[in-house]
Amino acid sequence: MGKAFRHYWLPVMLSSELPEADGKPFPVEVCGERIVVFRDSNGTIGALDEFCRHRGASLLLGRVENCGIRCIYHGWKFAVDGTILETPNVNESHFKDRFKARSYPIQDVGGLVWIYLGDPASAPPLPNWAFMKVPERNRLPVVAIVNCNYVQLMEGVVDSSHLSILHTVGLKATDAVDLDFARKTNHMQFDAAPILEAEETDFGFHYVALRHNDRGAEPVTEARVAAYVSPCFVLNPNGDIFFSFTPINDERVLFIHVWWDAEKPYGEEPLRSQQLSFVGLDQETLAEFGMTRETSAMPERARRENNFMQDRDAMARGHFTGLPGFVQEDAAVSMSGGTIRNRSKEMLSHADVAIIRLYRSLLKSAKLVANGEEPVAVHSDVSKIAGACGILKPDEEWRDLVPDHRPVKKQDALVR
Ligand code: FES
Ligand SMILES: [Fe+2]
Repeated sequence: MGKAFRHYWLPVMLSSELPEADGKPFPVEVCGERIVVFRDSNGTIGALDEFCRHRGASLLLGRVENCGIRCIYHGWKFAVDGTILETPNVNESHFKDRFKARSYPIQDVGGLVWIYLGDPASAPPLPNWAFMKVPERNRLPVVAIVNCNYVQLMEGVVDSSHLSILHTVGLKATDAVDLDFARKTNHMQFDAAPILEAEETDFGFHYVALRHNDRGAEPVTEARVAAYVSPCFVLNPNGDIFFSFTPINDERVLFIHVWWDAEKPYGEEPLRSQQLSFVGLDQETLAEFGMTRETSAMPERARRENNFMQDRDAMARGHFTGLPGFVQEDAAVSMSGGTIRNRSKEMLSHADVAIIRLYRSLLKSAKLVANGEEPVAVHSDVSKIAGACGILKPDEEWRDLVPDHRPVKKQDALVR
């Protein structure tokens, strides 16, 4: 998958985390590559190999000045594209013209900063996600760090059956709050075993959770469709979150949420703070649990050794998990099996049909790349891929909710 990931543009940080011109360089690790991101005097963003092309000192210590970044060890200076501008400790004036530093294509679009790790000459166009088109005030991007392999966290968002169990407290709280998210997920607390179907598409797969609701006068079927877009992106059934599970390395993942809506100003107060604190993505809760850039490596934050700071007293008083929010519940269960969990012993069931489909898509990409081909969805038009939810009319099937998705073939349909 390391090779496969080098075919895609990957979001690695928030636009708001970008340094100002000649400001402090920013460290990025993605797929195990250590990169320094900086903005030169003209405002141009650059992404270079973190370690100096001379003898490997970190450019995070560097000086960003006069249209380049200068290593403080021997003063070699690099432009945003990797051109070597100065080598003050070398007498020969043409020495620096013979080579370059490794630079990575980088773009700031949709509130996120995207990097391409592969050969720049073969970089595809940046995907045109729907959230990129709305104004900044209608978008709420946020990052969190989780100390486990990216697949472990990603499988949680294509796992509808854990929602009404792991997140039981949060779902009950949806009774009391007036957030769109709450309204659209509230009913799930009444049905822990939805009917699930998953289907391969040209971009990865989509899957549906069908819940029959006979609490009203007319029994109805509610359908919630999520889309997985290779290699690490998911669109939620409410149609208002883009998730990315960008691998930092094999044992750490950058968990990106972008809430977005054509009308609602998710990026502005009070909606912004309400939304973040409802799911546990406010900076205070993230920092306490060890999910921010500053805290994720701190030993006193949530980890296996302290049982993820689970509050057993709260559990005795009736809280189901003893964990502070949706996101911390997901993070704790994802990390608890080990940073790279042993998958040879798992017992997949009818409830895991989307997980199986996820594994197959990842394996397909890995095999394609091993055969010298392009992995899944590198050139997909992602603009019309969507999550969706709704009440199905008697003559309607759930695929009608996502008419722009193209199934590869109908299989994996698993109806109990
Ligand atoms: S190591 Fe950077 S200039 Fe020598
Ligand atoms: Fe979850």
